Amino acid sequence: MPTHSLFNGTSHPTPVGWPENVGILAVDIYFPAQYVDQSELEVHDGVSGGKYTIGLGQTRMGFCTDREDINSLCLTVVNRLLEKTGTDPSKIGRLEVGTETIIDKSKSVKSVLMQLFSDCGNTDLEGVDSTNACYGGTAALFNSINWIESSAWDGRLALAVCGDIAVYAAGAARPSGGAGAVAMLIGPNAPLVLDRGVRSSHMEHVYDFYKPDMSSEYPQVDAPLSIRCYLSSLDACYAKYRSKAALRGAEPISLDSFQAVLFHTPYCKLVQKSLARLALNDYVNLSPEQKKSQFPQLEKFSDVSLVESYFDRDVEKAFMQESLKSFETKTKPSLLVATNVGNMYTPSLYGGLVSYLASSPADVLSGQHVALFSYGSGLASSFYSIRITSDLALLSSALTCLSDLHTRLETRQKMSPENFVSALSTREKAVHAVSYTPEGETATMFPGTWFLQSIDEKHRRQYSRHPIGQTNGVGH
Ligand code: ACO
Repeated sequence: MPTHSLFNGTSHPTPVGWPENVGILAVDIYFPAQYVDQSELEVHDGVSGGKYTIGLGQTRMGFCTDREDINSLCLTVVNRLLEKTGTDPSKIGRLEVGTETIIDKSKSVKSVLMQLFSDCGNTDLEGVDSTNACYGGTAALFNSINWIESSAWDGRLALAVCGDIAVYAAGAARPSGGAGAVAMLIGPNAPLVLDRGVRSSHMEHVYDFYKPDMSSEYPQVDAPLSIRCYLSSLDACYAKYRSKAALRGAEPISLDSFQAVLFHTPYCKLVQKSLARLALNDYVNLSPEQKKSQFPQLEKFSDVSLVESYFDRDVEKAFMQESLKSFETKTKPSLLVATNVGNMYTPSLYGGLVSYLASSPADVLSGQHVALFSYGSGLASSFYSIRITSDLALLSSALTCLSDLHTRLETRQKMSPENFVSALSTREKAVHAVSYTPEGETATMFPGTWFLQSIDEKHRRQYSRHPIGQTNGVGH
């Protein structure tokens, strides 16, 4: 929609129509240029072989040295998306950031990103940061969509950004870390359109994962509670999505309604269990006759209750088996970044979207209906859906941003578990340090990566950018 068509030509901008097909115009991801191999970490940590790689489904874990912080991750991904799409920064009217990596209790990451808009003199940019564990990226996305669909819209585009450095204290949770950032350009007439009127949320007060210690990057985690909360939120959001879709006259919703189902991914095994959980929900919703005729092999589960089955091994196993084919086609392609980079917290779900979009050519993705489940401990969760355009030219142009995804994943540097642990120790010492110059290597960073140059005695951070034309020095 041309920008001027929104206005009546008076000095008071009055919307004259609802913008159509509001959604994601383009998306890009950034992850650090080094990783630790999860099977080497198993040996280093003295756990049984397969615990991280099979038990959690994780292959590699990206991590940051003290050269990167949440500001630099977001500077990098926003700068790259603007460059790759050729977007004029003055055409952005809203910039939203979702993160739970807090380095300043007052100053937003968004305000740091304003540096990218200073050359063109664009200071008219709404939006600040949203925080609720891994949910902030979804809040940023929804806020951006809402702005474009609101009376406040001035015809420009929005940017929804999410990033985090996910690190855990030594112990069982450490292999479920990761780091990265995703930026999404939001506007009308998009190739990825968010369905209206059906997105559904479940919000609750729970202490399952939280970060009360301001002097540490590490969270407090009640792991069994966090898994239970994740699965029960999925049940609640899916039920509400189904009933909202029914109210709008849609065909009854089931896994068959979607060609892809993407999840926030703390670790890949939980995602496979979550798809099985949706298959269980579909089964529970059938009449006794339908259960008997369509799924005779599941007869012993005909009276299963959702609330009593979160940790029921028999139910879990049966529905994982039942949903295996769906998992292979609808969900597994979305786990490329999650298994190779790890849980990036707020960008985790959007790393799933990026992976899914990079998994097939445009003519396969065209017209698909994609479901997404976002979860942030504490807790906030939503289930929503996206329709991929059938306009192949529009879709292909959006996908070009992701054409280097596989190369970037493969040209990262493998670091030893000792290097990884040492990088985390350095980060521990650097949290809130003043008059600090980071030690981390910059030569091996991806081209165009922003990094922390120094922190002065008043905690003010200075950043530089790795030259765009140089490689990261790692063989292709
Ligand atoms: N080979 C294959 N599988 C193995 C092996 C092995 N050698 N050893 C263990 N496993 C399996 C276990 O059977 C278990 O499988 P299951 O989940 O199907 O039961 C799995 O590996 C994990 O092992 P556990 O001993 O059960 O769990 P652990 O104490 O290692 O902790 C956990 C895993 C809870 C995921 C931990 O990494 C954690 O606390 N992570 C952070 C919390 C989290 O991610 N919560 C999810 C939602 S909240 C959020 O997004 C942050």
